[in-house]
Amino acid sequence: MVTKMEYISSKNIVLLICDTLKLLERSLMEHGERTAYIVYKMLEAEGSYELFEMADFAFLAMIHDMGAYKTEDIDDMIQFETKNYMAHSIYGYLFLKYLSPLNKESKVLLYHHLNCEDYQENDYPLLPIASYIYLADRLDIYHKSLGDSFQFDMLKKHEGTRYTSKALFLLEKAMEKTPIIEKLNDKSFRRELDELFDFIMFNNEDKKKYLDMLMQCKGLKNDKTVMETLICSCIAEEMGKKMHLTGEEMANLYYGVLTHDIGMLAIPKEIMDLDRQLTPEETSIIRKHIEIEEKILKVRLKESVAQIAATHHERADGSGYPKGLKDKAMNDPQRILQLADSVTAMLSIRPYRGPMDKSAILKSLADELKAGHFNRRVVAIFTDNYDAIMDKVLLKSEHLIEMNQKLEVQYQNAISHLKG
Ligand SMILES: [Fe+2]
Ligand SMILES: [Fe+2]
Ligand SMILES: [Fe+2]
Repeated sequence: MVTKMEYISSKNIVLLICDTLKLLERSLMEHGERTAYIVYKMLEAEGSYELFEMADFAFLAMIHDMGAYKTEDIDDMIQFETKNYMAHSIYGYLFLKYLSPLNKESKVLLYHHLNCEDYQENDYPLLPIASYIYLADRLDIYHKSLGDSFQFDMLKKHEGTRYTSKALFLLEKAMEKTPIIEKLNDKSFRRELDELFDFIMFNNEDKKKYLDMLMQCKGLKNDKTVMETLICSCIAEEMGKKMHLTGEEMANLYYGVLTHDIGMLAIPKEIMDLDRQLTPEETSIIRKHIEIEEKILKVRLKESVAQIAATHHERADGSGYPKGLKDKAMNDPQRILQLADSVTAMLSIRPYRGPMDKSAILKSLADELKAGHFNRRVVAIFTDNYDAIMDKVLLKSEHLIEMNQKLEVQYQNAISHLKG
C-alpha cells in the first residue's frame, strides 16, 4: 500500500517506537535510554565500530528490556532485573524473533542477563554486544539505586564470572574519556544519543517492518490492539483503493492508521477494561488519548499524517471530538480512518458484547449515516464492497495470528521448562 516511505525518516521510526514504549512505562524506557548511551560510549571506546553500527546497537540496547512490558509488574524493576530475569529475557527474544526485523539480533535480548561463566553458545557473533548491554544495564541499575556511593569496583569484582574482561575494559576506558555518570545525571546524554540516531538508516523494506513492529509494541499492553490495528489498516487500504486515493494519500493514511491509537497506551487498564457505561469523568480520560498522541505524532510525522490520526473520532456532523470538525473540513483519508476505526470496533469483542456480524454492522452504519456521523460516499463504498473487504481482512489476519501464536507457545514452553 505504501508507495513512498520517505514520509518518515528512519530516525523517527526508532524514536516513535521509543515514544510508544514510553507511553507503556516511562521509567523502563528511560532505563533503556541510559543503557543505550552507555553501550554507545563503550562501542566508541572499542574504536572499530562505524557510526551507523553504533546507532543500530544503541537502538537494540534501548529496547533491551522490552519483554518486561509484557511479563512484569514494572514497579518491581529491581526484582526482575536482578533475580527473576528469565521471563522478560525470553519474551523480548521471541518478540524480536517473530515480530520485528531484528531476527539476527534477537538473541542479544535472550542473553542480556547471562553471566559470562555460563556462556554456552560462544560462537554467537553478537554475544559481545549482549555482554556490553549486561554491564551497561548493571551500571545504570546500581547507580540509580546507590547514587554517589556507587563504585566501579562493585562491577569489576565480578570480572570473568558475570562480566567479560573486554566489557569491563571498554566501560572503564569510556568512563575515563567521557563523564558518563554526570551526563546521565544532568540528562545531557540525551542530545548525544539523539544525534547518534541520525545515522540509523533503514531501507524501504525495513521501514515497513519496523512500522509493523511499532504496531506489535502496542500489543505488549493489550494484545487485542494488534489485531484491531491490522483490521483497521486493511479496511482503510481497501477503502483507499476503491476511493482512488493518490499514492501520497495512501501513504498518509497508512501511517495515520498505524499510529492512530497509540495514545490509548497511556490510558489506565482499569478504565479500558470497564464493562459498564462510563462516567463522564472516565469518558474524558479516554478522550485524552487524542491529545497525548497528537503531541508525539506532530514531531515525528508529517502534519498531514498526524492530522489523520488526530481526527479519527471526529464526525461529519461536528458531533465528534476533540475539535468537533465538520465533514467539509476533512479529507478522504480522514473520513476513511473514521469509518475503518468504527467498523473495527464493531468487529471486535467488547466486555459487554461479542463481535457484530455483517447485518448488524451495516445496520449500525446506516443508523450512524442517518444521524449524520459519516460521509455518505464513504459509507456507500464500504457497504457496496463489504464482502470483498472482509475477505482481505481475513487473509491478512491469518499470518499475524500465526506469528503471535508461535511466540506465545514458545514462551509458555520455555517458562514451564524453567519452572520444571
Ligand atoms: Fe533486563
Ligand atoms: Fe535492563
Ligand atoms: Fe481512538
